[in-house]
Amino acid sequence: MLSKEMEKILNNQVKLEAESSMNYLAMASWAECQPGLDGITEFFYAQSEEERIHMIKLLRYINERGGTGQVPELKKPSVKYKTVQDLFKHFLASEIAVTKSIYDIVDLSFREKDFATHNFLQWYVTEQMEEEKSARDLNDKLEMIGSDKSGLYLFDRDIMNLRTAE
Ligand code: FEO
Repeated sequence: MLSKEMEKILNNQVKLEAESSMNYLAMASWAECQPGLDGITEFFYAQSEEERIHMIKLLRYINERGGTGQVPELKKPSVKYKTVQDLFKHFLASEIAVTKSIYDIVDLSFREKDFATHNFLQWYVTEQMEEEKSARDLNDKLEMIGSDKSGLYLFDRDIMNLRTAE
């Protein structure tokens, strides 16, 4: 059985994953409206789906452990990107925030000796490590490319292949 505090913090994580999913959906839609960003568009649509899966996994865990999973109310995502670099900086910042939030829950699971939740969270810890690494790598590449249009063309093509290879 989850403690009330654990139930609350896990439901907060459900909301964070749902917000990530909607933000990435907005990013995908933004990219789709720009010329020639087909790879980036597919990347963020897929990323949005992944976050939805993260959200549902948490929601069902809360219910399985005797808590009540809350489907959250969400704000409309703001879309203020001027460049692809800008888009990917937001992506990295969002993943860093999610990692921090997961670590806070791991910390609580230790303090409460809730080893089932601690065990459950290991999947998220690994997932966040991978997502942050991928977001950092993509940001590094974009920094190298700068405003070079042919570099951006190749970046978009590569990110499409990255998704198909998974
Ligand atoms: Fe589920 Fe990328 O955080």
